[in-house]
Amino acid sequence: MSSTPEPDTTLPVPQPKPQPSAAGRYLFLFLLGLVLGIVAVVMLLRALENRKTWRDHYPHASMQLLSAHVAQAREKQDANRCNPTDILPHLQSLRSLGNDFEAAFLDLAQDRRFVEHAGNFRATLDSALSSPPLNCTGVGEALSSIGAACKACHQDFRN
Ligand code: HEC
Repeated sequence: MSSTPEPDTTLPVPQPKPQPSAAGRYLFLFLLGLVLGIVAVVMLLRALENRKTWRDHYPHASMQLLSAHVAQAREKQDANRCNPTDILPHLQSLRSLGNDFEAAFLDLAQDRRFVEHAGNFRATLDSALSSPPLNCTGVGEALSSIGAACKACHQDFRN
């Protein structure tokens, strides 16, 4: 007796492999491009940053140092430490940083008003140093006239 064997239905029927979708491929290429693009931009920015010289950093650096000394003097005042030994070093640093304005901002140094603001700033520091504040009230007054000298120049020259 011969009969055709029944197909074994328990075996999995081989399915055709699903084709990778075009959308998936585009997404992969897009992400790859994005990552390479970011890497390239970071490298470019670092290269540009490395090409900067002291002259490029000078304006920002001198302003940041001015801020640092004003902030430290304020902290001393807030902590009620207003002896001349606490405050004078900051006033002296501010005074000598005041000599840098024209050298740091070469293009503005031609401007009469800029030079005037720079001179007023130095004069404010000279008078604070010639009669140094002896208590926290005096420190507060010195700091507010210094702040006014910063602000006067910024109003005209800081965009
Ligand atoms: C004679 C003018 C002048 C005086 C005085 C002056 N500044 Fe400036 N300051 C500038 C200019 C101009 C800029 C803008 C710099 C730029 O963006 O290139 C600036 C920018 C700054 C900035 C931003 C710096 C940065 O990295 O972009 C700070 C912080 C600052 N000044 C703090 C001070 C403090 C604090 C004082 C006073 C103790 C002061 N400045 C006094 C001219 C002055």
